[in-house]
Amino acid sequence: MKRKITIAIDGFSSTGKSTIAKLLAKKYNYIYVDTGAMYRAVTYFAMKNKLVSKKVLNEEVLISKLKDIKLTFKFNKILGFAEMFLNNVNVEKEIRSLAVSQLVSKVAAISEVRRKLVAEQQLMGVNGGIVMDGRDIGTVVFPDAELKLFMSASADKRASRRYKELIDRGDDVSFEDILFNVEERDRIDSTREDSPLIKAEDAIEFDNSDMGIEDQFNKICTLVEKKLL
Ligand code: DC
Repeated sequence: MKRKITIAIDGFSSTGKSTIAKLLAKKYNYIYVDTGAMYRAVTYFAMKNKLVSKKVLNEEVLISKLKDIKLTFKFNKILGFAEMFLNNVNVEKEIRSLAVSQLVSKVAAISEVRRKLVAEQQLMGVNGGIVMDGRDIGTVVFPDAELKLFMSASADKRASRRYKELIDRGDDVSFEDILFNVEERDRIDSTREDSPLIKAEDAIEFDNSDMGIEDQFNKICTLVEKKLL
């Protein structure tokens, strides 16, 4: 039997990390974990409890309530990926909204939030055979991952992809708001004190501004195969 490795995918927002991660998980029969969904679910919890808004961040109360937050992924056979459940409620649709995107980087900068989620992520990966995407996977969560990828693309391309996704699901959003959000999140995620988004030294970089998914996926599979030899 082939050994099972850990694949860490980091990069800027909307660079297609999850698309590649899902394809890899399917091909190699690995677990896929979207860590952004976990930060989004905590943010959604904070919004519902009026602990975060554009003007407010009640860090102290949010930290004291972290123990009441139970995050679980449940695989949806029809969709072909695991959906995010917050305290046993499916929040997959809610966490993808622009409203959550506009607040998530603020919440993700809180060290206590990161500590809780990183510990849960590390537990999910103890046996290898995992593809995890996020911002600190190759640097903090799995610094010893066998394969690390770092994805980037122009802000314009990324905003266009995100805009299409939200419009397709019926959200009323403007391209300008999405572009602003993509750039603003990258700025906050890359400059925060705790686990900022940076490329791990040993990560392989992919700029997919002008590269199709298939082309990219094939290149990445070649890298995986080499690691499995
Ligand atoms: O992958 P995403 O765009 O759904 O992530 C949403 C936000 O969550 C992102 O802007 C920053 C934060 N995040 C993080 O800080 N660390 C991770 N490992 C994953 C996401």
